[in-house]
Amino acid sequence: MAAAGGSARGDLRAGKRPPVGRQRPAPHQLGATHLEIGYWIRRSAQGRGFVGEAVQLLTRLAFQELQANRVQIHMDPRNIRSRNVAARLGFVYEGTLRCCAPGSDGQPTDRHVVALVREEFEALPWAQGPAGPTP
Ligand SMILES: CC(C)(COP(=O)(O)OP(=O)(O)OC[C@H]1O[C@@H](n2cnc3c(N)ncnc32)[C@H](O)[C@@H]1OP(=O)(O)O)[C@@H](O)C(=O)NCCC(=O)NCCS
Repeated sequence: MAAAGGSARGDLRAGKRPPVGRQRPAPHQLGATHLEIGYWIRRSAQGRGFVGEAVQLLTRLAFQELQANRVQIHMDPRNIRSRNVAARLGFVYEGTLRCCAPGSDGQPTDRHVVALVREEFEALPWAQGPAGPTP
């Protein structure tokens, strides 16, 4: 599993097969000190640790190459799998933005905000190491 190319945005590939998902820091925030990561992965590739591995890579890129002070993830609180990705990696829950995003039915829905600041990132076991399975 690798993020394509050397950029911060890329398809998630397993070998030479078609991409199984996509990682993206929010483009408008690239180069800033406050970055956001979003993720999805094809259903057939879920449950194999690919997203956790890619989030580690992007978070290291943010702190170590882009000199970020903060990396955050927003998610629907009902999305347990998404919450688990961030929690397994040690992202810290900061709060809930209430009624800030449209749901599939058009009604406003909440978003959880989790984040890492530099000191928290540097204390994590995966901060310096090569990409690997989610701890
Ligand atoms: C949210 C989403 C990205 C999570 O994908 P995921 O594959 O569960 O995430 P991970 O890469 O962290 O994989 C973790 C799972 O792989 C399993 N796993 C298997 N082998 C593993 C390995 N070598 N290393 C780590 N985890 C492994 C873990 O046990 C875990 O399974 P569990 O959730 O049943 O406990 C995915 O469900 C998705 O794309 N959903 C639709 C879009 C979406 O909701 N995006 C989020 C918007 S905020």
